[in-house]
Amino acid sequence: MSFTDHTSLFKELFLLDPEIVFLNHGSFGATPRPVFDAYQNWQRELERQPVEFLGRRFNNLMRDARAALAAYVHADAADLIYAPNATTALNIVARSLRLNPGDEILTTDHEYGALDRTWRFIARKTGAVYRAQPIPVPITTPEDFVARLWAGVTPRTRVVFLSHITSPTALIFPVAEICRRARAAGIISIVDGAHTIGQIPLNPEEIGADFYASNLHKWLFS
Ligand SMILES: Cc1ncc(COP(=O)(O)O)c(C=O)c1O
Repeated sequence: MSFTDHTSLFKELFLLDPEIVFLNHGSFGATPRPVFDAYQNWQRELERQPVEFLGRRFNNLMRDARAALAAYVHADAADLIYAPNATTALNIVARSLRLNPGDEILTTDHEYGALDRTWRFIARKTGAVYRAQPIPVPITTPEDFVARLWAGVTPRTRVVFLSHITSPTALIFPVAEICRRARAAGIISIVDGAHTIGQIPLNPEEIGADFYASNLHKWLFS
């Protein structure tokens, strides 16, 4: 099968304007037809009996959806929660921490703007220090990355926050090794995996972060 055949096959699966080549599933993923149909069926189901649906069936439906997602990412369903998006989920975590003046949040200079702003806001409010460790590109090895980031750890480091796949530079950071070191050092690890699910195999348990957020509306197309 040629490249062109593949392209038309994929185009038929989506509702996208056939005149455009849509590459940016990283902002808002386009939804394939079968997913869109399933989503509209749920909306119709809700409209048939709104109180029955939202008042009586909703919790069990959400439990079933969580179990399906847990199976997909090899996680325990009890460890998963749904949030509107990764920014909201990470804000819930970041704003729930009890940080004191002088505590340090270690990160990289490859983070997504909205989360960078969240941490700067939190640092201003609490007196904590937000330290973005410079990671120059090209990065050649995972060991090089780990050494550069870990050089920013001090006795006051309370949190390490980093992306799994970075937004400005499309790098895959070796997050499991960072989380392993953080755990050993008593540092809370928070991973922004907004671009991972659907794009790379994902196993949050193996990564071992204290908190891991991803997005279903980007590369999982849902
Ligand atoms: C690395 C990273 N984190 C977080 C987000 C935010 O995703 P959302 O708008 O779905 O919260 C993005 C969006 O592109 C991103 O690239």
